Amino acid sequence: MPSDTLSPPTPAAVLCGLAGWVPPRVVTNDELAARLDTDDTWIRTRTGIRSRHVAEPGQATSDLAVEAGRLALGSAGGEPADAVIVTTTTPDRPCPATAPAVATRLGLSGAAAFDVGAVCTGFVYGLATAAGLIASGVAQRVLLIGADTYSTIVDPLDRANAIIFGDGAGAVVLRAGHPGEPGAVTYFDLGSDGAHEDLIMVAAGGSRRGATAVETTHAERHFAMRGKEVYRHAVTRMAASARATLDKAGWKTDDVDHFVPHQANLRILHSVADDLDLPRERCVSNVDTVGNTGAASIPLALADATTQQRIRAGDRLLLTAFGGGLTWGSCLLTWPELAEHPQPERTTP
Ligand code: UT7
Repeated sequence: MPSDTLSPPTPAAVLCGLAGWVPPRVVTNDELAARLDTDDTWIRTRTGIRSRHVAEPGQATSDLAVEAGRLALGSAGGEPADAVIVTTTTPDRPCPATAPAVATRLGLSGAAAFDVGAVCTGFVYGLATAAGLIASGVAQRVLLIGADTYSTIVDPLDRANAIIFGDGAGAVVLRAGHPGEPGAVTYFDLGSDGAHEDLIMVAAGGSRRGATAVETTHAERHFAMRGKEVYRHAVTRMAASARATLDKAGWKTDDVDHFVPHQANLRILHSVADDLDLPRERCVSNVDTVGNTGAASIPLALADATTQQRIRAGDRLLLTAFGGGLTWGSCLLTWPELAEHPQPERTTP
């Protein structure tokens, strides 16, 4: 390790539990093509997505979060967490935060519980927040859940966005441990650029255009994204963040066994891998079956890749995310030995 690399703090946040959960209903590209001016070939070639899971009407983000959270706590041995973080762009409602209700439904009443909002970068921001709680001694064991139900904010008739997003939740448990042990999440890089806040936005529903503001339009109440511009930022910001993180740790690209990016779009992920000179085979992706699940995407990709035994104990991982804000972030970890954790049967098209 070069002498100018920064040492991660002690105690470190050590990953000791993991799970993903998606609602059973699968929506294929053909089903979307039946109601939108699009087709399976366009969606597959432009995004890599074949199908996605969608929540039932009335099923909220907390419902998905509770499922993933329960499985993750089980995979970590069932010990209670003393802090619960939910990271989401689609909270159950603007007030209160979603995390306290999730904590209570998981039998963790009394735990510190709050939401983190960083759009699709939420999971990496959540990991950094959890690491901070543990390093400062505020918490010993943190349940971090990334959960989103984009189907509740995307206009079903908006072909540009309805094809990309899916609903889902992924969760990890982090315990206090040593920065040198497998599972320790270290060397964070986080960033933002609010000058481009308009690229990804739900304009209404907050204090700028809230319930007491002038009447809002249908478009303002739904998710809007300037896809092409976002695409360009996503590639450059993710590559720069990944590189900055590797530099902090003194890792070379070749030290990375698996690059686990936010599952924005397969073309974006491959472009970032190319930019980093990382063979595309080292890029972990499940976007074909779940789409872009926002804050859930990295833990869901981790859960799927470990279930398929693609990621194994001792493998070195680089996690990188990008999202609205704009926000971006990365971190590193060596994969720990996790207890066998049965994943729920996944509906396939
Ligand atoms: O998770 C947070 C970060 N989000 C992202 O990173 C997403 C970033 N952006 C993207 O993934 C891509 O920009 C999209 C998938 C959203 C769009 O792909 P694109 O290759 O950038 O397409 P485009 O927006 O440049 O559109 C190309 C053409 C347009 O038609 P014209 O103007 O060339 O005639 C669009 O109207 O494709 C048209 N189009 C579609 N055609 C069929 C747009 N959406 C569709 C569609 N089906 N669903």
